[in-house]
Amino acid sequence: MLGRLNHVAMAVPDLAAAVAVYRDTLGAEVTEPQALPEHGVTVVFIDLGNTKVELLEPLGNNSPIAAFLEKNPAGGMHHVCYEVTDILAARDKLRAGGARILGDGNPKIGAHGRPVLFLHPKDFMGTLVELEEVSESG
Ligand code: CO
Repeated sequence: MLGRLNHVAMAVPDLAAAVAVYRDTLGAEVTEPQALPEHGVTVVFIDLGNTKVELLEPLGNNSPIAAFLEKNPAGGMHHVCYEVTDILAARDKLRAGGARILGDGNPKIGAHGRPVLFLHPKDFMGTLVELEEVSESG
């Protein structure tokens, strides 16, 4: 079911400051900020060739990362995103195995314009898992 690691995401309290760290201190190329109101976040990506880093800043009053940042005011690792080729088949298989899908269970369109789902961290060793559908894995 699982394909490649698409990205590792970090929640940050100040996106501009985080971008400066990655761009200026670490010398990485960082994309322009992208507001995703449906997900309650503004994101940038850093393409590392083999995978990406996603930096997330809260957007709006009901951001799903607000509580995380209250617990981790300096920011922290928020989720990992794995690629799947058929997100509905993956969801149904995971559900049948007892895993919990967050939200209403229907994929939303993510930052790359592709369907994504989030899986409950308690079912995956304490780590929030995002699945992103890609046309071809590997
Ligand atoms: Co993500």
